[in-house]
Amino acid sequence: MNLKEVQHTFHKELDAIYKKEEIDSFFFILTESYYKVTRLKLAMEPNYVVENNEPILKALKLLKQEKPIQYILGETEFFGMPFKVNEHTLIPRPETEELVDWILKQKLTTSNQQQIRILDIGTGSGCIAISLAKQLPSAKVFALDVSIEALKIARQNAELNCVEVQFIEADILNTEDRIQKTKDLKFDIIVSNPPYVRELEKQLMKPNVLNNEPHLALFVEDTNPLVFYKEIAQFANNKLTKNGMLFFEINEYLGGEMMQLLEVNQFKNIELKKDIFKKNRMIKGIKN
Ligand SMILES: C[S@@+](CC[C@H](N)C(=O)[O-])C[C@H]1O[C@@H](n2cnc3c(N)ncnc32)[C@H](O)[C@@H]1O
Repeated sequence: MNLKEVQHTFHKELDAIYKKEEIDSFFFILTESYYKVTRLKLAMEPNYVVENNEPILKALKLLKQEKPIQYILGETEFFGMPFKVNEHTLIPRPETEELVDWILKQKLTTSNQQQIRILDIGTGSGCIAISLAKQLPSAKVFALDVSIEALKIARQNAELNCVEVQFIEADILNTEDRIQKTKDLKFDIIVSNPPYVRELEKQLMKPNVLNNEPHLALFVEDTNPLVFYKEIAQFANNKLTKNGMLFFEINEYLGGEMMQLLEVNQFKNIELKKDIFKKNRMIKGIKN
């Protein structure tokens, strides 16, 4: 089948759901991934024919069901690196790249000249932990998640990106479990992008997120939206070295509450930071 005809079919089937540019972008991502045919190549050879159009038409069917392109391909990019994703892992977001970038801009020191130890809580695909391990080759990086399935993918991603990360299966909301699984460990940096979307915010979410991404990674109850942050702040108080740093990605609507939470937990030099869309998206505190 001629790829131009396939592109035509994409628009016919998807124009009611997505913007035109988005459809073209999907189409070219798929032609490159499945047939190694770039946008430029297709411009130069408009009558390019592929023998097996089954994979791209199958992808079209899934796009029509609003399945994210990253899940269709099973892969995405984060901090310039490839990451496998599936229905058990959140698709890494650009805001989270900003969080990693913020961490890398810090003056990173340890209390006793050892290698820097970093813990990423709720690692999902492993995107934060693995990017930090790649950028800080001398650091010792740990990554924790309650989801065995997410950890499987995170392990594959560490291998894919040639970094060493120590993975820990633990429930951060369970005090006994988290203490036992991190026994004898102290950290210089703890970072987390935990679930933070309130049930009441579901109505603001696009169906492609709501119907495809793991709810375990996204949602918290309206009555206790900071549940993860409260537990992690307490945990960090015990587990960070003196002057160790705690970083969170946060719900844009809860910046004030997060400042208070870190104050109550005796963190100092607390800083709230906006993302490129000028939304309160990250917070940092230093352990006293
Ligand atoms: C918002 S996702 C973040 C994933 C990844 N770090 C990122 O930034 O793309 C939150 C992660 O927390 C994990 N999680 C949820 N409940 C947890 C718990 N009780 N203990 C540990 N991890 C948990 C989920 O499995 C999910 O991977």
